[in-house]
Amino acid sequence: MNVLANDGISNSGIKALEQAGFSVSTTTVAQEQLINHINQKDISVLLVRSATKVRKDLIDACSGLKIIGRGGVGMDNIDVEYARSKGIHVINTPAASSHSVAELVFAHLFGGVRFLYDSNRNMPLDGDTKFKALKKNYAKGIELKGKTLGIIGFGRIGQETAKIGIGVGMNVIASDMYVDEVNLELEFFDGQKAKFNIKTIPMNDLLKQSDFISLHVPAQNDYIIDKAQFDLMKDGVGLVNAARGGVVNEVELVKALENGKVAFAGLDTFESEPTPAIQVLMNGRISLSPHIGAATNEAQDRIGVELAIQIKDLLLVDKS
Ligand SMILES: NC(=O)c1ccc[n+]([C@@H]2O[C@H](COP(=O)([O-])OP(=O)(O)OC[C@H]3O[C@@H](n4cnc5c(N)ncnc54)[C@H](O)[C@@H]3O)[C@@H](O)[C@H]2O)c1
Repeated sequence: MNVLANDGISNSGIKALEQAGFSVSTTTVAQEQLINHINQKDISVLLVRSATKVRKDLIDACSGLKIIGRGGVGMDNIDVEYARSKGIHVINTPAASSHSVAELVFAHLFGGVRFLYDSNRNMPLDGDTKFKALKKNYAKGIELKGKTLGIIGFGRIGQETAKIGIGVGMNVIASDMYVDEVNLELEFFDGQKAKFNIKTIPMNDLLKQSDFISLHVPAQNDYIIDKAQFDLMKDGVGLVNAARGGVVNEVELVKALENGKVAFAGLDTFESEPTPAIQVLMNGRISLSPHIGAATNEAQDRIGVELAIQIKDLLLVDKS
């Protein structure tokens, strides 16, 4: 059976599929040639990330397709329900990148409490002439240890973020619209394990108590963090959004950064991707990354392997 990984797949994923007897192509076929290619090459499994679109026209034209797989979480680029109504399996790998996103949250937090977002901008400009002045500017850092981390959205990534926070010695609190309590298990290098039970609290309580807030909710119709929510926060809070643009009102965020309510923000996702607002990009108190939360080699490896396992399972079931 032939697999086309049109947006690429990790070597470990290719290996797992080939060992199971699949033939894997990683040629990137242009969108307008995809239907012909799938039919000519007798492709049964089409794997994509976010670039390739799998719409009704393709689904209708490629009757040989058995599985559409998305390496990653969001499936906005696939007509999922339509494909399923035609008997095609649609799969993704929602958990593969959770830990990677959680580590990026901490990259923003660790950088935030020591002003790295600013010193990385200023050291190349003034580091050789104003070293002592810069040293003074960045002298009043704080530690994360002992501070309260508020996690909004306590699903896969929220829980991975909580584990790192606990490991760092933070007081972790969480809020979730649907989850009441979670049992977390932390695993250490020597095989020891430690268990923690966290009961979620109302969001307004979390906003009032947190020294740092990290968002891990799915895309929403309305802002989760708007003026009213900023008003509830402690003065000098740090805020990270590695969830989705549109979860935080960026205009209100910039105001809150300017009036000192928010000390710094870490943004991996933006309201207007891929052209974030210039007021956000140029704000000296924002630590910026271009939606790279899931983009680690380890996550890509896990995505490939998770896809391979699901494909083997599904096609094995289909044959029986
Ligand atoms: N930065 C990146 O590169 C990157 C990578 C992967 C995922 N993400 C994003 O991270 C987010 C979380 O992903 P996940 O895998 O943890 O999802 P998940 O579904 O496991 O968890 C989301 C949680 O949010 C809760 N929730 C939903 N609406 C809520 C609301 N209004 N208030 C409070 N809680 C609410 C849900 O009950 C759920 O527990 C998603 O938006 C996803 O798109 C970002």
